[in-house]
Amino acid sequence: MTLAKKEIKICMGSSCFSRGNRLTLQVIQTYLKEHHLEDEVILKGNHCFEDCNDGPLLLIGSKVYKQVTGDSILEILEAELGGLKGE
Ligand code: FES
Repeated sequence: MTLAKKEIKICMGSSCFSRGNRLTLQVIQTYLKEHHLEDEVILKGNHCFEDCNDGPLLLIGSKVYKQVTGDSILEILEAELGGLKGE
């Protein structure tokens, strides 16, 4: 049995990108690499989700995270992916 991979979609629309997702993308990439999760998680850039006022946005699975910051992204990743880490 293969488990479905987690999918992260990060908004790369100009509003979200310039307001934080440029950095958030780097934080996610570093997190996945440090915890050897690159094969467990699919990371995709997305066009504008048309909800810019609540940005920067990202989706993990079907859950939408709004107003994501460089600090909150680490808490989000721990909550969503912490169980995948092979500790
Ligand atoms: S740019 Fe991200 S929702 Fe529009």
